Amino acid sequence: MLDHATRSRMYYGWIKLFCILVLYSTSAGAQEGYFWHITDYHYDTTYWSEMRSCNDEVPVRGIYGDYWCDSPWRLVLDSINAMADIERDVDFILWTGDNVAHIADQYTNETYVVHILSSITDALKTAFPGVKVYATMGNHDWYPSDQLPDTPHLLYNATAELWEDWIGDAEQMANFRKGAYYTVKTAQGLRIIGLNTNIYYTSDKLTAALTDPVGQFAWLEAVLKNAKVAGEKVLMTAHVPPGFHVPEKVQWFYNHYNTRFLDISRTYSDIIVGMFFGHNHADAFKLLQMSGGGPGVPMFMAPSLTPWRYKNDDVTSDPHNPAIRLIKYNQQNGVPLDIHQYYMNLTASNRNNASDWKLEYKATEAYGQSDLSAVSIDNIIQAFKTDKSLLDQYIRHHSVLANGETTVNACDEKCRAELNCGFIHMTEGSFDSCYTAIVGGSTRLCSSSLLIVMLATMCYTVY
Ligand SMILES: *[C@@H]1O[C@H](CO)[C@@H](O)[C@H](O)[C@H]1NC(C)=O
Ligand SMILES: [Zn+2]
Ligand SMILES: [Zn+2]
Repeated sequence: MLDHATRSRMYYGWIKLFCILVLYSTSAGAQEGYFWHITDYHYDTTYWSEMRSCNDEVPVRGIYGDYWCDSPWRLVLDSINAMADIERDVDFILWTGDNVAHIADQYTNETYVVHILSSITDALKTAFPGVKVYATMGNHDWYPSDQLPDTPHLLYNATAELWEDWIGDAEQMANFRKGAYYTVKTAQGLRIIGLNTNIYYTSDKLTAALTDPVGQFAWLEAVLKNAKVAGEKVLMTAHVPPGFHVPEKVQWFYNHYNTRFLDISRTYSDIIVGMFFGHNHADAFKLLQMSGGGPGVPMFMAPSLTPWRYKNDDVTSDPHNPAIRLIKYNQQNGVPLDIHQYYMNLTASNRNNASDWKLEYKATEAYGQSDLSAVSIDNIIQAFKTDKSLLDQYIRHHSVLANGETTVNACDEKCRAELNCGFIHMTEGSFDSCYTAIVGGSTRLCSSSLLIVMLATMCYTVY
């Protein structure tokens, strides 16, 4: 038989182990938080009247929207209510702009833009009382569309007023009035940097010839430098993303801004834990590599709320479902842990007169990683090169499941090469080298002096 002392030692031993386990699991749990990322509402006030955003001659116009049109108010409000139903307890919300519909400038003005922004701001405040929304302006949140200036403007001022509760102090309000950028620290200690990247967008004719419009680059460098000294982790958010929108291969930024933006971000890739953008309307991600190569910063492009399809004489884009995105992250170091992507089946919702929000995917499950850190995103991107069905999955997500297998089947070898190159190649020269190395077709590439050693093996295989 065990004596009393041994028995009580064992007893306390078990209790101690139990307590350690409980403490460990609660402290691990306490580090996980959530935030929403919503974008590109493009609310069309004329949906039931003049249908000014609709790209097709005879849109059906269901009560929740139409694939050819921007969002009716019902869709905007329903999505915000769905967010509150799914997860009300979030640390903050990222809202990356483009709230005004795709309608011609002749039908809008400054007052109209402010009316749209203020309607959605109020709806978010009502559904999420007390939750900070870190909002950034889109190229459509302007009159005339896309022309955000380098100089003070009543729309910079009016938007600053609308978002004052979220932006906070006088210094950041002044930054916003100057050019719609600001920084705040979350209650959990993460530094948020909200930028106005619309001034780098090639559709902005007012900024083409400048070097640092609204002084944003100089300011960004100073903020990042201070953050590094202070040992902070940084989350960056803006509307227009750098690099290429693929497979269309569109570079949104002017060249000189694209390079500068990427250089600054790369310099601070050790403290920037993630970047969150809108504008593409499609679901996508990228990885900024560090100067010496290797995973630097993951970039996440959230799909839009609007189901609107792009269409002009040459191009008709895929249909996509309305989307809202919940992100799980580590509150301590800011690292993105997962994406819970939700979507509304627009066809079913209209048919049933009832909104149908569903989980589309969880990124960690869909792509087989334990989190969404730069290293994990790098693993996914590497796997895409050889795992066709994994890339198929990404392509399905790209159009938010609206197009069945059509989009997947339509994405041929060249389309897949563009996707694969676009993940990490964000400037023209490096993208083209990557693309040519995969699909071939250029003998000049093989004689290009700098790349010859690196690409010698690939050129051999191609030819
Ligand atoms: C959406 O709903 C339609 C109509 O009910 C259905 O045919 C389609 O498969 C659904 N799409 C998805 C992705 O569930
Ligand atoms: Zn948009
Ligand atoms: Zn946009």
